[in-house]
Amino acid sequence: MSWWTATMAVPRGTWINLGFLLILLHLMHQPVTCAGDSADYYTAAVVEFTPTHKGDNGTTTLRENSLSYVKYIEQASEQNADIIVFPEDGLTSLYMPSRAHMDSWATVVPSPLENYIPCTENRISNVSETLTRLSCAARRNHIYVVVNIAEKEFCEPKGKRCADGVSYHNTNVVFDRTGAIVARYRKVNLYMEYRFDTTEEPEIVTFDTDFGVTFGTFICFDILFWVPALNLTRMRGVSNFVYTTAWFSEAPFLTAVQTQFAWSFAENANLLVSGYHEAINGNAGSGIYLGRKGIANATITASPLHRLLISRVPKKNEPSKRTEEILIDETIVPLESFAVVEKQLEEKLNLIHLLHDNLTAYESVPLEVSMTKKLCYKDFCCDFDVRTSGPIDPRVNYRAVVYDGVRLYGAYVQAGVRVCAVIQCKNQSFNSCGSYQSSDTTFTTLNITATYPDYSNILAMPSVLDHSLFPIEHFTYTERPHDGQTSVSLALKQPTRNLVTFGLYARDFTKDKEDRP
Ligand SMILES: *[C@@H]1O[C@H](CO)[C@@H](O)[C@H](O)[C@H]1NC(C)=O
Ligand SMILES: *[C@@H]1O[C@H](CO)[C@@H](O)[C@H](O)[C@H]1NC(C)=O
Ligand SMILES: *[C@@H]1O[C@H](CO)[C@@H](O)[C@H](O)[C@H]1NC(C)=O
Ligand SMILES: *[C@@H]1O[C@H](CO)[C@@H](O)[C@H](O)[C@H]1NC(C)=O
Ligand SMILES: *[C@@H]1O[C@H](CO)[C@@H](O)[C@H](O)[C@H]1NC(C)=O
Ligand SMILES: *[C@@H]1O[C@H](CO)[C@@H](O)[C@H](O)[C@H]1NC(C)=O
Ligand SMILES: *[C@@H]1O[C@H](CO)[C@@H](O)[C@H](O)[C@H]1NC(C)=O
Repeated sequence: MSWWTATMAVPRGTWINLGFLLILLHLMHQPVTCAGDSADYYTAAVVEFTPTHKGDNGTTTLRENSLSYVKYIEQASEQNADIIVFPEDGLTSLYMPSRAHMDSWATVVPSPLENYIPCTENRISNVSETLTRLSCAARRNHIYVVVNIAEKEFCEPKGKRCADGVSYHNTNVVFDRTGAIVARYRKVNLYMEYRFDTTEEPEIVTFDTDFGVTFGTFICFDILFWVPALNLTRMRGVSNFVYTTAWFSEAPFLTAVQTQFAWSFAENANLLVSGYHEAINGNAGSGIYLGRKGIANATITASPLHRLLISRVPKKNEPSKRTEEILIDETIVPLESFAVVEKQLEEKLNLIHLLHDNLTAYESVPLEVSMTKKLCYKDFCCDFDVRTSGPIDPRVNYRAVVYDGVRLYGAYVQAGVRVCAVIQCKNQSFNSCGSYQSSDTTFTTLNITATYPDYSNILAMPSVLDHSLFPIEHFTYTERPHDGQTSVSLALKQPTRNLVTFGLYARDFTKDKEDRP
């Protein structure tokens, strides 16, 4: 029986009946607007967010920023979002005091095993007013809420660990629609965050939802490591993620949206990303990514300082079939629709301060108008097939680069990378590479093939970028296993201008070494 025949059966007449009818309509409408378990999509909201308050007082900073969050929670709920994600450090801001003064900036976060609803109970002490406010907002607005917050964990001293009886963690907290804490994840891969501690064993965290989707979660720098992200995709088959970040964009391979897209594509997983915004430090970029189906929504601009992105996300997202040719023209929403918006803001992109990768050790050759060449760094070789048509834009140069070795992330993390790519440079000098300006040079063919002997241990990401700091959308990505190794080819599908980066940026986890002071 449909809802329409049911409501027609209510007799006409009094206001009371009408009121009843409206309630009935409302109740019966509910499963449709809230996606429900049976729909083939859910609705996701992510917030590009600048803290509205930064200061020297933890209590005030957390209060003001969480009050801002509540407004976004209300807006997202009005637009029928099932889940909303806020960024790393969004509540505290990046400007936290040293470890010794963290107490008023941090909260106890009850374990999901407690089934605790901060909004309605007080059986656990030291849970901050901020968590309570967010729990109530999730409950009132009937929406899943994902936040990142500074956590204090009272603990027993054990050697160097927990020497002063407390550990501080960089933590994601997830509330369900009743305001209950259903997930708590403590960041594994800290990026020069000296005030925070890691757990003894890394935590690998998932949570289930009433719309039938299981999410994994991780934070910022974690995206470049195996643990916990690839434990979730490759060992547990998780294909939906909520990701909080305060990313420092780096040219030419690791700007924010480029990296988010690259990971989602490589692992073929839906990735809901909320980014902390402070362009002057290079923090910008959020989006909703659909694995090999492309981008649903994304933003990376110097302004506005805040943006709420809402998109439907298809639930069905099989984990990556790692041997098939997959074409990105399955993209549900063509990327151009965003590029148009962003291009109006092109001049503002220069206001995003970018870091630059140190490419000194890379092998490189200047690109010729037409070039078919194998370029090697020691044993790691890549095939380049390049053709351009029409005039070459004299304002830009391009180079083919190859590298296989370690690099430094931040101050003390050494990590293995294997890269082959075409990158943009300002002039003939290699030092000028990593520029990202518009370019009228048209590439008609650009096909780069890398061969990895140990493919199951690496993460090979398509690193593709145009001058608006958006991924280039038209390429094929082909994985071909042969003779115990795997060749991956990345090839342009149509003539392309404004190219900044096009290649494969792979992480090789076997060379990783951390030497935290
Ligand atoms: C922070 O501000 C509150 C008032 O909002 C005040 O009660 C508290 O003492 C301040 N804390 C510090 C450390 O200054
Ligand atoms: C935690 O809560 C207990 C009980 O309410 C209180 O005595 C203690 O001072 C609190 N500790 C901190 C560090 O806030
Ligand atoms: C995560 O993956 C790493 C690397 O394969 C493995 O050593 C570790 O045991 C995994 N952790 C869990 C909890 O599965
Ligand atoms: C992206 O998010 C904005 C803000 O919610 C929304 O208006 C727009 O329709 C979204 N775009 C797509 C393609 O979903
Ligand atoms: C860049 O890398 C080269 C070679 O790996 C190294 O000698 C140099 O010190 C690095 N430069 C900076 C600024 O880190
Ligand atoms: C190349 O560009 C860089 C700026 O990126 C500049 O410092 C350098 O002088 C230029 N070199 C030449 C040869 O024009
Ligand atoms: C790219 O190059 C590889 C290796 O030469 C080749 O097998 C593949 O077919 C090429 N792809 C395209 C789309 O041309």
